[in-house]
Amino acid sequence: MVIREFTIKTLICQSVSPVVLSKSLIINDTLMAYEMTSPNPGELAGISAKTNEIHHDKLYAGYVTKRNEITEKQKSFTDEQLSAANQIFSEWRGLKEGETFATNGMILHEVFFDILGGDGNPDGTTIKDVIMNQWGTWERFVGEFTATAMGARGWAILAFDRSDNALHIYAADSQNHGGVWGATPVLPCDVYEHGYFIDFGSDRKGYIAAFLKNVNWARVEERFTAASR
Ligand SMILES: [Fe+2]
Repeated sequence: MVIREFTIKTLICQSVSPVVLSKSLIINDTLMAYEMTSPNPGELAGISAKTNEIHHDKLYAGYVTKRNEITEKQKSFTDEQLSAANQIFSEWRGLKEGETFATNGMILHEVFFDILGGDGNPDGTTIKDVIMNQWGTWERFVGEFTATAMGARGWAILAFDRSDNALHIYAADSQNHGGVWGATPVLPCDVYEHGYFIDFGSDRKGYIAAFLKNVNWARVEERFTAASR
C-alpha cells in the first residue's frame, strides 16, 4: 500500500495566501482533512435563505467532503494500480479529474460565501482605487464583471494575478476549466444555475446585480491585500 502524507511545507508551497492556509486542519505537521471555513450567510437581499441552505450546506459541503475522500483514496492506490493510469480511462485519471473539480469547488465557494453579507458599497477601500485605476470608472468595471458573469457557464472571478501583479476578471466554464495559475480569486460570482434559479428563474442578470449588492468589500479588500502583499 502506498501511503503519502501532506506536510506543512508542501501545503505552503501549494498555497498563495494565508487565507488559503486557514482551511486545513494540521496535526503533528500532517494535513489531516479539509474543512468548511466560510459560514452560511443566511438570507441576503434578493438571495433567499433556501438558496444559500442548498448552496452552502449541501453543495459547498459536498466539495469539501469529496476533496477529503479523493485525497484518502489516492493514498490507498498500490504501485500496480498507479501503473494502470491511462489518459482515455483509468481510475487514477478519474480521481485526478475529480480532485481539481472538488478542490476548485471548495476554494471558490469558500471565497464566494466569505465575501457576501455586506452592503455592496466599496467606498473607502483600496481595492476600489485599484479597480478605478485599471478600469477607468466603477461603472466600466461593473459592466465588464456583469458581462463576464453573463458569458461564463460557471464563474466570473475577479482575481489578483501574480503574472502581472494586476486584477483580472476571468471566466470559468467549470470549476476545473478556465482557472489561471498564480491568480488568487478575491471576488468570485457563482453563475451555475443552482446559485440563482430558485430566486431569479432564468434572470441571471438580476441575480448578478443582487450578488453585487451583497458584496462585503472589506472582506474583498482583506483577500486582495493578502494576495498582493
Ligand atoms: Fe455553487
